[in-house]
Amino acid sequence: MFNFDYRNPTHIVFGKDRLAEIDKLVPQQARVLVLYGGGSVKKFGTLDAVTKALGNRHVVEFGGIEANPRYETLMKAAVIAKAEHIDFLLAVGGGSVMDGTKFVALATHFEGDTATLLWNGTAAVDSSKILPLATVATLPATGSEMNAFAVVSHPKGKFGVHHPQCYPQFSVLDPSLTFTLPKIQVANGVVDAFVHVCEQYVTYAADARIQDRFAEGILQTLIEVGAVTVANPEDYDARANLVWAATNALNGLIGTGVPQDWATHMIGHELTARFGIDHAQTLAIVMPSLWQVCREQKRTKLLQYGERVWHITEGSEDERIDAAISKTREFFESLGIKTRLRDYDAAKADINDIIAALEAHHMTKLGEHQTITPAVSRQILELAW
Ligand code: NZQ
Ligand code: ZN
Repeated sequence: MFNFDYRNPTHIVFGKDRLAEIDKLVPQQARVLVLYGGGSVKKFGTLDAVTKALGNRHVVEFGGIEANPRYETLMKAAVIAKAEHIDFLLAVGGGSVMDGTKFVALATHFEGDTATLLWNGTAAVDSSKILPLATVATLPATGSEMNAFAVVSHPKGKFGVHHPQCYPQFSVLDPSLTFTLPKIQVANGVVDAFVHVCEQYVTYAADARIQDRFAEGILQTLIEVGAVTVANPEDYDARANLVWAATNALNGLIGTGVPQDWATHMIGHELTARFGIDHAQTLAIVMPSLWQVCREQKRTKLLQYGERVWHITEGSEDERIDAAISKTREFFESLGIKTRLRDYDAAKADINDIIAALEAHHMTKLGEHQTITPAVSRQILELAW
């Protein structure tokens, strides 16, 4: 196991009927900017419940944060936050709204070109000026409710941003707020969480038994509840397990002291930027093919994954690895998520554009061994076709 530091300061407020407690969690004198997306939280009453809980505080609303939140939109929110002397941000929505809110927290008082935070990192941000934030999560998928990452879309590409002060102070996770999600978004959430675990687990063996067994537990849970919660959105227990699985998939715990991959995500971000394919769907396209191409480097963990998660014990090593990859692909397909690039609105020749974008974004040494060069990414995408 590698050395590590682990600290996660987010207070999780989990369960039914907890929105009124926001009143106790947000400072009484706070001037609050409530950020939301395209309107689902308005339509289904979550926004009303949140503003009611905020009582007499000075509250300003900012709606219209799109899926794959755009830099330009977020900067409009940052301008309002500054003008209104906002000192607390409350995200009400899915990963896009939570991520967007983190970027607003960094950008509002940043003196300089805020776009550079996307490609130069956040070291230049004065940490005393970052706004505190919290979330009411309405979509179980990204883990953004309990991590310090944000992904922001800009005309130059999709960029990951990180700052330790971007952990939400608290996140309300009420599974019943997610009952209104369209089936496809629930399936996306299952796949995104599944791939988050795999990016931190299907790498090379590091004798990290706790992390491995947590990872296997999350994967098994997602396999158990995935189809159930897509089919029966109001089965509270199934949905509650999905919500907590997704949070634990990317709150840092299973990634402590182990090698991490993230190549599927980096290639996936280029597919979203180029073709507009939903985040989770890009992962379902890339990961099975990446495992085929990188099966030698991942051999030990692919075998462990096959045996412990899918109970594959028969056949030669190569047959077991093939079976593990097939099971994974079938699982994604069973949820209604297509796993071939040709199933989406893309042409084979466009793979050239994806490779050029990876090069432009310096994504030329990906994976746990930094061996996924553009040539290997091309092989992966051609196999994914
Ligand atoms: O915009 P509204 O109207 O709210 O509708 C949203 C949106 O259309 C809808 N929705 C959300 N909650 C709902 C609901 N509809 C009905 N009922 C509800 N309760 O769902 C649609 C998708 O929402 P979005 O927030 O875009 O989805 P998701 O949570 O999957 O977030 C995706 C974004 O997160 C990033 C992705 O790259 C992408 O930009 N990621 C963030 C990560 C992180 N912060 O750690 C890691 C992930 O790997 C990922 O990259
Ligand atoms: Zn993801």
